Amino acid sequence: AAAEKGGFDSFMEKEIHDQPDAVGQTLLGRSDVGGNLMLDELRIDESILRSVDKIVVLACGTSAYAGQVAKYAIEHWCRIPTEVELSHEFRYRDPIVNEKTLVVAISQSGETMDTLMAVRYAREQGAKVVAICNTNGSTIPRESDAVLYTHAGPEIAVASTKAFLAQITAAYLLGLYLAQLRGNKYRDEIADVLADLSEIPAKIQAILDDADKIKQLGADMVNAKSVLYLGRHVGFPVAMEGALKLKELAYIHAEGFAAGELKHGPIALIEEGQPVVVVMPSPRARDSLHSKVVSNVQEVRARGAVTIVIAEEGDTSVEAYSEHVFYVPASPTLLAPLLTTVPLQIFALALASAKGYDVDQPRNLAKSVTVE
Ligand code: G6P
Repeated sequence: AAAEKGGFDSFMEKEIHDQPDAVGQTLLGRSDVGGNLMLDELRIDESILRSVDKIVVLACGTSAYAGQVAKYAIEHWCRIPTEVELSHEFRYRDPIVNEKTLVVAISQSGETMDTLMAVRYAREQGAKVVAICNTNGSTIPRESDAVLYTHAGPEIAVASTKAFLAQITAAYLLGLYLAQLRGNKYRDEIADVLADLSEIPAKIQAILDDADKIKQLGADMVNAKSVLYLGRHVGFPVAMEGALKLKELAYIHAEGFAAGELKHGPIALIEEGQPVVVVMPSPRARDSLHSKVVSNVQEVRARGAVTIVIAEEGDTSVEAYSEHVFYVPASPTLLAPLLTTVPLQIFALALASAKGYDVDQPRNLAKSVTVE
């Protein structure tokens, strides 16, 4: 077992360290040197993909957060309205799905019953279904019209890490491919985004190589009763995924909020000593999102919060307001989740390990949930 863990203490730790490869392998062979996407595996008639007027992403758990991240990118590049829905909610609300709907079913295992049932329902309504899946030959890809495999390698730890980054990567490739096919005005961006994506594995590695400080903070926070996470734009689903990791691994109450929503309720929770993790947007993000989140950091801090900020290298603006700052390498806004997620995983792992918990097999959870 020690060998299977590659010298790490747990599968979870190993899988966090597998992430540069998980992203790199998922990108591999799917574009040419000219920056054109080649998704031959996407065996759905191109004319159908061109006529799609809505995308519905269906998934559960961490995979659903990958879908929420992807929504920002797909809508930006493809200009196709994209909804993300939890699989188990989807078919019980009389959803509007038809021949012009493209369903993207995201599942690490390919066996999640809720997602499988949603896929069956969508196909009955005439939708085409593309699965994004990490497990070759599993049920959801077999029952879908096409599959885009994530090549993260087997994920053993119950709480998902490397599959999440690979899912975002695969969903981005799908979005870029649709943009290429439909020839819209964002087509020119495709080669640039692919070049930026190719730099992500090394940037993840840099975060992994410089993780001592965040590990220490995790270990120091074993007595935390509740941790709040704030993010905005793509940082919002990252905040929710960070909170989910802490719930799953460390059994601590954790909640991810949209930073802009703070004033509409969650700020009432802030009292002296409340830890708040903030996923900062890039200083280059549009519409002054960065300064808006800086204000949020100041607001919670003024009410006694202990702020733990994940920011882009060089963004010193938050240092004055943060108890702890962790930097990740710079990247375009849409790619930032592939980096900002990593310190949050490391933090949850360190905290749970310091509590002595089994991080690979958290209580009450299963790796794949094959019942409804
Ligand atoms: C379970 C796992 C989660 C996972 C979710 C969806 O709840 O514990 O880690 O995110 O299922 O699984 P899937 O295999 O469909 O991605």
